[in-house]
Amino acid sequence: MQKIVILTGAGISAESGLGTFRAEGGLWAQHRIEDVATLEGFQRDPKLVVDFYNARRAQAAEATPNAGHLALAKLEAAFPGEVVLITQNVDDLHERAGSQKVMHMHGALSGALCGSCDHRWPAPMVMAPGDPCPACEKPTARPDIVWFGEMPYDMEEIFDHLASADIFASIGTSGNVYPAAGFVAEARRHRAQTVEFNLEASLVASQFDDIRIGPATQTLPLWVSEILAR
Ligand code: APR
Repeated sequence: MQKIVILTGAGISAESGLGTFRAEGGLWAQHRIEDVATLEGFQRDPKLVVDFYNARRAQAAEATPNAGHLALAKLEAAFPGEVVLITQNVDDLHERAGSQKVMHMHGALSGALCGSCDHRWPAPMVMAPGDPCPACEKPTARPDIVWFGEMPYDMEEIFDHLASADIFASIGTSGNVYPAAGFVAEARRHRAQTVEFNLEASLVASQFDDIRIGPATQTLPLWVSEILAR
């Protein structure tokens, strides 16, 4: 069996009704990154930031996994231990679709983090500024989201997976943000076969062996059935 390493971005959750970041009217057209996705923004106005993530948490809870999420869960079920899913997304649609090995490199709406002692715990549906940390009891709870300028989670393990991938698939990501946008180059360096799934060519499309243009709810089930038929 081949090891398949998958990277997903906001595009895989778009057909579940969750907005992407850089499309017309996307999240970064509605909010300034420096206000809602940086530590400085949180320190400047914790209520604005906590409310931003409370709204996204509520929206994600209302959303349901789509055929793209389900196709990836089906692929992993067919090849247990051989499929690694790295997501830039902070929603839990991959888990709710049945995917087991999901690495949230940008954190997750379901998590809370202590700004003082780094303790992490399941976030309440509605966080408030000054919520106490259950471990150190300081009023320094924050969303467990990796903000711009902060180190993504699990990078060492992620690069180990990229080094041993036979297939690297990137789904619904524009290739704007590193280190995720650099994963295809790393996978190629280790001679993985690379494929991109998007509505349009991403900024790193030229680095892929294969590009499947179309909605992920259509292109992914087709791709998974091709692999299962091999
Ligand atoms: N099927 C496939 N791809 C889609 C679909 C769809 N139905 N809908 C949108 N896309 C593609 C878009 O063409 C675009 O290339 O998804 C991509 C979304 O790009 P972005 O909005 O830039 O989101 P993403 O690449 O995930 O952003 C990466 O940037 O702001 C940070 O931390 C944030 O994790 C995020 C990171």
